[in-house]
Amino acid sequence: MYDLFVLHFTSPRAWGCTADELSQMYRQHLSHDHAEVGVGSGYFLSSHGRADWTQVSLIDPNPAALQYVSRRLTTPAVIRHVADILDATTLPPQRYKSVGANYVLHCLDASGDSKRTAIANLARLTADDGTLFGATVLGDAEHNRLGRALMRICNATGAFDNTADDEASLRHHLSAHFHTVHIERRRAVAMFTASGPIR
Ligand SMILES: C[S@@+](CC[C@H](N)C(=O)[O-])C[C@H]1O[C@@H](n2cnc3c(N)ncnc32)[C@H](O)[C@@H]1O
Repeated sequence: MYDLFVLHFTSPRAWGCTADELSQMYRQHLSHDHAEVGVGSGYFLSSHGRADWTQVSLIDPNPAALQYVSRRLTTPAVIRHVADILDATTLPPQRYKSVGANYVLHCLDASGDSKRTAIANLARLTADDGTLFGATVLGDAEHNRLGRALMRICNATGAFDNTADDEASLRHHLSAHFHTVHIERRRAVAMFTASGPIR
């Protein structure tokens, strides 16, 4: 249901970014040594599963999501971490060649400096020669009618906390923690890659 409704319907129709465009991002950046933060249904990992995975660390506060995705991936290389990207003490101490954080930042509680904290912790997980990649729905964007309705519902129910999120603040937070930052827009979605974590 999540794959169908969120990735194949809401993402293209409300936010302007197709599942194929997100798939292409995974195809380009997923490495044999990967951490996925905010695993959801594991759709992109399972469609681009690698035969040569040395490890794939799944990081999410929801144990049910971790269990579901590790079953879906069918590789013994999976390691599950019940952890919160806002709390560095819960995160694995390793660094990874690729770190995915897709459609996670817009879900995080916007009070305080949580988006910046999340990006700082994502930089900690990224190896010196590694790449962070992902996408996030920006609240401060040109939304269509469906997007505006979903923004209202998702922010009212707490599924999203992104009304103030914009491309400039995303770029600012990423640039504070990575030497190289690239953002590509698909209407309300910012697809980002960042490399060269600043220690
Ligand atoms: C909208 S889903 C995105 C799933 C998937 N990455 C995708 O692209 O379809 C958001 C995921 O982020 C997780 N999440 C929410 N808050 C988190 C946090 N503080 N730290 C890590 N993951 C979090 C949720 O449990 C959920 O699995």
